[in-house]
Amino acid sequence: MELVVEGVSKTYDDLLVLNQIDLTADEGQIVCIIGPSGCGKSTLLRLMGGLEEPSSGNIKTRGSPPSDCLNALTFIFQDFSLLPWRTVESNISLVLEDHPISNKEKQEIINSVLQRTNLSEFSKRWPRELSGGMKQRVGIARALAVNPSILLMDEPLSALDSQTSEILLNDLIDLWDKQRFTSIYITHNLSEAIRIGHKIVVMSRRPGEVRETVNIEKALKERELRNIELEKYLWDLLKEEAVAAEREIGSET
Ligand SMILES: Nc1ncnc2c1ncn2[C@@H]1O[C@H](COP(=O)(O)OP(=O)(O)OP(=O)(O)O)[C@@H](O)[C@H]1O
Ligand SMILES: [Mg+2]
Repeated sequence: MELVVEGVSKTYDDLLVLNQIDLTADEGQIVCIIGPSGCGKSTLLRLMGGLEEPSSGNIKTRGSPPSDCLNALTFIFQDFSLLPWRTVESNISLVLEDHPISNKEKQEIINSVLQRTNLSEFSKRWPRELSGGMKQRVGIARALAVNPSILLMDEPLSALDSQTSEILLNDLIDLWDKQRFTSIYITHNLSEAIRIGHKIVVMSRRPGEVRETVNIEKALKERELRNIELEKYLWDLLKEEAVAAEREIGSET
């Protein structure tokens, strides 16, 4: 499925958070969104996932989800959002509960997503027994269990140490290579965006607008660990926004 955002603005009381956002995620494309803190990235993701309504503009999906899709738009959060009183397996079964599928099918789905996220041995463990990286694997497994058409990820690796996030980034790239899901991926980490994004959308400071869009043609699996030139280009854009935002805050006080 494709996701199309057209002229979306969002206001909270008198605060304009997002101003006239246009962006498209094509079928099977990972679109990374970067931008200064507070520019409205998480807000935009919530609008895309239908958790909130835009103040103006439209968000549409095009195309149909896979036949066995249980939830077309599915979130993966930064803080893993696992229920501490449920085991790994039962954190995953939670998202299958309201669907008319047999217990046998549910178990098959759970086994399959545990295997795809290298968690098969940990199905009976409790969240407190898992490392951060494993917890986020459960978060990813739970998202995959509903076979989403579009994955909405809000800084999914930012709570992890750099080695663990590197491993999970590669896991996500492998998963994408097999399943070719469409995704919106918010990150603060420029090298992460350059590794996993087919398109990088740079947002301005608040009110968030699309400042620049960069397409990266190279296949995800063939990318270098770093692309210093592109990182520098993106960083210069972000730095301008951050410095301007700081000046604005300074002049208000
Ligand atoms: N429900 C809400 N009510 C009022 N203001 C809100 C609400 N949600 C977000 N905001 C405000 O909207 C702005 C954007 O917030 P948002 O969390 O989308 O930014 P962000 O780009 O995700 O920031 P960060 O990079 O720090 O995660 C902030 O000023 C925030 O205080
Ligand atoms: Mg955010």
